[in-house]
Amino acid sequence: MEMKQLIEKAFDGLQYSYAPYSGFKVSAALLTKEKEIYTGCNIENAAYSPSNCAERTAIFKAVSEGRRRFQAICIVNEDVDGNHDFCPPCGVCRQVMAEFCDPEFVIILAKSTEEYKSYLLKDLLPQSFALKN
Ligand code: THU
Repeated sequence: MEMKQLIEKAFDGLQYSYAPYSGFKVSAALLTKEKEIYTGCNIENAAYSPSNCAERTAIFKAVSEGRRRFQAICIVNEDVDGNHDFCPPCGVCRQVMAEFCDPEFVIILAKSTEEYKSYLLKDLLPQSFALKN
């Protein structure tokens, strides 16, 4: 049930995606260990490099409100034809996940509430960089 709700939240967030340059909408729903959900969409920019991915939008929203304990994230996308495909997180987003999430953090890629795949962060970003402190 928690899984279905997280996927639905991710799909709901697609409406806010700002992707006029790529036409590729992405939305993420981040589940905290306290069972709250933070959503985020991709936000593009005419200068391209200031663009932000959906996953980082969700994580930064949560961290900026004091949350740092995360359990899972669901990522969905929609192309210009309205199709949904599996959308693995980019390398930068994986590194941001590694900053705040433990190796068992779950990454769900969904095409629909019935069709999804899930991975662990430790498998998508092995040997990740971190400072010892
Ligand atoms: N994008 C994301 O939002 N998340 C990813 O992990 C991969 C790429 C966005 C960035 C850009 O707005 C669009 O998808 C096409 O690259």
